[in-house]
Amino acid sequence: MNCHPQIYEGKAKILYATDDPDILLAYFKDDATAFNAQKRGTIVGKGEINCQIAAHLFREIEAKGIATHFIDCPSAHEMRVKSVRILPIEVVVRNIAAGSLCQQTGISLGTILPQPLVEFYYKDDALGDPLLTRDRLLLMELATPEQLESLHSKALQVNTILQEFFQLCGITLVDFKIEFGVDNHNQILLADEISPDSCRLWLTGEPDPNLRVLDKDRFRRDLGNIEDAYQQVLARVLGVRT
Ligand code: C5P
Repeated sequence: MNCHPQIYEGKAKILYATDDPDILLAYFKDDATAFNAQKRGTIVGKGEINCQIAAHLFREIEAKGIATHFIDCPSAHEMRVKSVRILPIEVVVRNIAAGSLCQQTGISLGTILPQPLVEFYYKDDALGDPLLTRDRLLLMELATPEQLESLHSKALQVNTILQEFFQLCGITLVDFKIEFGVDNHNQILLADEISPDSCRLWLTGEPDPNLRVLDKDRFRRDLGNIEDAYQQVLARVLGVRT
């Protein structure tokens, strides 16, 4: 039982203080939300699964030279992380067209993009997380030009690392969302989580457009077998030796 003060509750995680002011404890919940929390539900076992997947991917990314907030997992659904000031920017990287890219541009689902597309969204529920331009982002002073450059380049590096890793798992990385934070030394760290909640993951080689989905689109689109899909991602992620 954690008796430290709760400092934040998000849609998928609760953050608790610890005895060390530079370290927080993230508790991963089974709660699932979609469409800016208009759709709510529970995915049994999701907290543990996502915590384990995120831990593994953070280790992988850290080993390849990108600093993250990850420290360790004291239990299956808890992660110790470095305390950071989260930048209110959702960074999305896309390799294959899906979701809002298809809805907003008319590009067909499944189109392989000629190069990874990096997008920035304003992390603001009240505004519905709008897509930002670079100039809007700077106008709103959400980041400095140097920070923006760093986010862009780190996002592409994370994409390369994750793409290569998921390929070994027999999974195609369609797109994902990541968040970054700034620590006390002004260093930018990859933060939040990387999991089937925040990535689109398709089973490589599966031609059926519904069967191939191993991510939160199963919940968003009521495709069923959500727990099995998340469990399959975990099993494949843990099965890879790099
Ligand atoms: O909905 P959209 O196509 O813009 O989502 C792109 C990627 O970012 C998807 O992998 C989705 O799961 C993720 N995402 C997220 N949290 C949001 C918005 C998008 O994890 N608030």
